[in-house]
Amino acid sequence: MNIVEIENLTKKFKNNIALDNVSLSIRKGEVFGLLGPNGAGKTTLIRLLIGLIKPTSGTARIQYNGYGPFDIEKDIMAIREKASLLPQEADVYENLTARENIMYYGQIYGNMPNGEVKRRTEELIDMIGLRGRENDVTKEFSGGMKRKVLVARALVMDPDLIFLDEPTTGIDILGARTVRNLIKRLSKEYHKTIILTTHDLSEVEELCDRVGILVKGKLAAVGSSDELEEEFKQADIEDVFVGLATGEGVLEEEMISVKKKGGLFSRILRRG
Ligand SMILES: Nc1ncnc2c1ncn2[C@@H]1O[C@H](COP(=O)(O)OP(=O)(O)O)[C@@H](O)[C@H]1O
Ligand SMILES: [Mg+2]
Repeated sequence: MNIVEIENLTKKFKNNIALDNVSLSIRKGEVFGLLGPNGAGKTTLIRLLIGLIKPTSGTARIQYNGYGPFDIEKDIMAIREKASLLPQEADVYENLTARENIMYYGQIYGNMPNGEVKRRTEELIDMIGLRGRENDVTKEFSGGMKRKVLVARALVMDPDLIFLDEPTTGIDILGARTVRNLIKRLSKEYHKTIILTTHDLSEVEELCDRVGILVKGKLAAVGSSDELEEEFKQADIEDVFVGLATGEGVLEEEMISVKKKGGLFSRILRRG
């Protein structure tokens, strides 16, 4: 079953097309990676899906277990009851403790009774490895520790659909590893659907069931890394990415549209 159905989604900012006619389905329970160079439209796509900005044209619908589908323009409040975002530029409230940061979010987002917010906050403090530091003011935390608090904060309302915009960018190796392990658990044990962006291709190999590669607002490819390596005749996902991002070995005129279930999307054929 698909949790997200995106149809011909386009977002223009004045003359700049940030997202160009993207159609894509995300399956329930998968970890889906959004890849693309800076400015490719990854954050724009996430912001559209959680209703922070409105599309110029096109639609997307989100279908949870047993309720929905909800339209990203008409039903955003219903969508946000079970969807959560860790924004790219997020920061903790430095004057609050780790526990207060997490609890505060639980109290303002979602529809959770206070006792449940408290219970989940404690659960997340253990799960993400903040126990022992939960009463410390986050001002003193390292970048990696702050990111753990931010990830826990995004999870406190028990979302089914989790958007993580560059969750491991700019944190140390150990912090990134904790976040990756948590993503795996959320997927495997809790069956959450996770849509994440990253610049780390080994992270994609480790975590993602499928990836979508965005280039200049267009969806250039979708599939598992194995499928993409096969499709583009490359040894690894990095070569697939470089080929699509730079146009190396790819002819513009070879851009063809192929009909796939869920809508039309462009597929870039490699030369030779
Ligand atoms: N609020 C905005 N106003 C104007 N242009 C924007 C805005 N948000 C994003 N853009 C532009 O849209 C394009 C895609 O940006 P973004 O989605 O942030 O890319 P990514 O997350 O892949 O790096 C970029 O050219 C960016 O400058
Ligand atoms: Mg971004």
